[in-house]
Amino acid sequence: MPQTQDFKVADLTLAAFGRKEITLAEHEMPGLMSVRAEFAATQPLAGARITGSLHMTVQTAVLIETLVALGARVRWASCNIFSTQDHAAAAIAVGPEGTPENPQGVPVFAWKGETLEEYWWCTERALDWGTEEPNMILDDGGDATLLVHKGAEYERAGAAPDPSTADSEEFQVILELLNRSLKEDTTRFSRIAESVKGVTEETTTGVHRLYEMQREGTLAFPAINVNDSVTKSKFDNKYGCRHSLIDGINRATDVLIGGKTAVVCGYGDVGKGCAESLRGQGARVIVTEVDPICALQAAMDGYQVTTLEDVIATGDIFVTATGCKDVITADQMSRMKHQAIVGNIGHFDNEIDMAGLAARTDVRRENIKPQVDVWEFDGGKKIIILSEGRLLNLGNATGHPSFVMSNSFANQVLAQIELYTKPEQYPIGVYTLPKQLDEKVARLHLDALGVKLTELSKEQASYLGVAIEGPYKPEHYRY
Ligand code: NAI
Repeated sequence: MPQTQDFKVADLTLAAFGRKEITLAEHEMPGLMSVRAEFAATQPLAGARITGSLHMTVQTAVLIETLVALGARVRWASCNIFSTQDHAAAAIAVGPEGTPENPQGVPVFAWKGETLEEYWWCTERALDWGTEEPNMILDDGGDATLLVHKGAEYERAGAAPDPSTADSEEFQVILELLNRSLKEDTTRFSRIAESVKGVTEETTTGVHRLYEMQREGTLAFPAINVNDSVTKSKFDNKYGCRHSLIDGINRATDVLIGGKTAVVCGYGDVGKGCAESLRGQGARVIVTEVDPICALQAAMDGYQVTTLEDVIATGDIFVTATGCKDVITADQMSRMKHQAIVGNIGHFDNEIDMAGLAARTDVRRENIKPQVDVWEFDGGKKIIILSEGRLLNLGNATGHPSFVMSNSFANQVLAQIELYTKPEQYPIGVYTLPKQLDEKVARLHLDALGVKLTELSKEQASYLGVAIEGPYKPEHYRY
């Protein structure tokens, strides 16, 4: 790894602890580690300068070190102000061969509890390769991609953005950053947009942004939608959240979930995992949906499906999992029962109207511990809000466990290799990985679970019209 002092983390002395957890995680990430072993000799990412913006956790540390093992140079920031695990960030900054006194790891800019200004500074630093530019982005939620696109847009227009026109506190911070940047360097983000061969995007919300840019004709480089690999969204989003949702609620509140009424807003992949985990604890789970197909699925899975208004006064636990905005309003929070718990597991913090709550004059915030606040209304009624409305499984707990992230991150590495080594096959647009690679990722995880696959005979394969070695399903199959 390159020698560097170029990083900012909370506490380098946590590196040894981080390294021990990285070693444990490697064993639980068989897919990612076997991709590392398969490509180590050929170094397909040699020459790649990857800017990563993804939760700086122990599992992400294994991803970063895999990218490095395949020849890439990497700079990293977290994609959420609360999601960094400081020991993982320290271990990445120090590197396997370094010490806290002599760090030799990867430039990482991430700590738990960043301010919004710090968060965007970190993203900017991860994009700053000095005299060079990044040539790949690995994104989760699309913030690094957004900064490059917005920056290039203002540079093209030759006009500094006016932060006072921003419609949110966060966008104001972005515009202030771009305003400063444009005064210092009028082509900085345009050069990055030009240099980047592609982005691989981790999550539903980031993918949504990419398709929007593709539709509008503003997408500046090709993108692989990693989220919609089956071995990502049908595993990480579902089984990952099934594990980490209740981990977050337990660590934050330690409230007994059994017997409570839990309301899950959204019954997509994330919502399905959340509902199952709450039911597993004995909660009575109620689902809200806008999509009739997902509403029908929830009903057939045995959940009551109704509107949030119907249950606002009776629910004990509310979880948003929609990727939509204003799903729970400030007015609705004011009508919840005493000590109702409110949390979001979707990517951005706009699912719960925290700004609206903060603007009310009849409510005060009291911090209980990091990422747990009680909001007390006039008259004494209190509600408990987790991670200030940011994704609670990473804010209040440690996110998804290694095994499921091994699936997601094996897809990430294969997608990086695809875009970096075969640019001619990916003109500007948004792509998913070929099904063979999706099936490969699944295959890499079977042994660890003792799964024995049945093999098609030649006759069976020809009867089904598939090859013995797959792919087994047509593109339109939905799993
Ligand atoms: P999805 O699109 O499969 O599901 C979202 C569901 O919410 C859809 O069925 C939609 O109809 C429903 N919905 C939209 N607006 C609604 C509203 N106002 N009320 C009720 N239902 C509504 O998306 P997916 O994959 O489940 O992801 C959801 C969010 O979670 C995204 O922001 C995604 O980026 C994020 N995510 C978070 C993870 C975490 O670890 N915290 C992991 C994976 C994804």
